[in-house]
Amino acid sequence: MRHFLDTQDFSKPELLAMIELAKLLKEADRQRCLPPLLAGASLGMIFEEPSTRTRISFEVAMTKLGGHAIYLKPGEIHLGVRENIKDTSKVISRMVDAIEARTLKHETVMALAQHATVAVINGLTDYNHPTQVLCDVMTMIEHKPAEKRLEDLKVTFIGDATNVCSSLLMICTQLGMHFTHCAPKRYQSPKAWQDIAKANCALSGGTMTISDDPKTAISDADFVYTDLWWWVGQEAEIPDRQAAFMPDYQVNEALFAKAPSHAKMMHCLPASRGVEATDGVLDHHRSIIYDQSENRLHMEKAILVTFIAPRLKRPEPEQKEWHAGQIAAFLSQPILAGDMS
Ligand code: CP
Repeated sequence: MRHFLDTQDFSKPELLAMIELAKLLKEADRQRCLPPLLAGASLGMIFEEPSTRTRISFEVAMTKLGGHAIYLKPGEIHLGVRENIKDTSKVISRMVDAIEARTLKHETVMALAQHATVAVINGLTDYNHPTQVLCDVMTMIEHKPAEKRLEDLKVTFIGDATNVCSSLLMICTQLGMHFTHCAPKRYQSPKAWQDIAKANCALSGGTMTISDDPKTAISDADFVYTDLWWWVGQEAEIPDRQAAFMPDYQVNEALFAKAPSHAKMMHCLPASRGVEATDGVLDHHRSIIYDQSENRLHMEKAILVTFIAPRLKRPEPEQKEWHAGQIAAFLSQPILAGDMS
């Protein structure tokens, strides 16, 4: 059973194939020609944290493909409380065709996958956000300079070593791209992530740079990316983080002006406008933040089709007819006594 927990679990051709599928499905959707590839399928969506993009994109993707999604909001199901994760995972697997899970701890999504008998799709953990970055690469391909190959692209991430930063570092180096993480030393990508990225680069020809100089890091970027400087649970660290990042690491008009004139601005959203990036860059004519968000929908469709469609049973017409006959014959007699009209 393969799950979608980390882009590291997939080869470059597999990742690029999912992006190609997303592009096909996007075009078909735009023409209102999307085939019902997941007709009759159900997706369980577990969220331990709120979400706008991930929740809506997965639910709409299932609906558009002829399937159905069940939103299980934070605290709504037993998940390691009153029932262990093994039982929850095995039970949900008996009722749906795939599970999408946003969990506070990466170990939780790993445990769900360990026991699931359907594919588990990681919708963000404290470690990574693989569906976001697959969508981001799709968006970069759509917006890259025509003369550049994917392997020529330079992505500069300015800010905290977030889960999105971790996943971007992984996928860019896997695909042979050139990734720079620029942050104050204390907030740079940890050695364990860098070791994985270095191994990726050795195979792919990509490069990884760690920097604490935003003006230099941005100077040859095709894509400038940032993310929140703090998240829920890090409130006590806000003063320290604010002091470390502000003003040098804020992506504002002055810093963005140091990037090449074709560079595009990216942010996975939600953004703290005026903190890690200003309105001037998030709303800049070279900002592609809403294209990124829309592409979540198209990428989720591709991921869902990749993981669910091959496992859907497609019975022969005779088999369907036989079952319909059996059920109709049974229902020709009342099940309950008494007047049901
Ligand atoms: N980028 C992202 O995952 O957004 P949500 O938290 O709204 O899902």
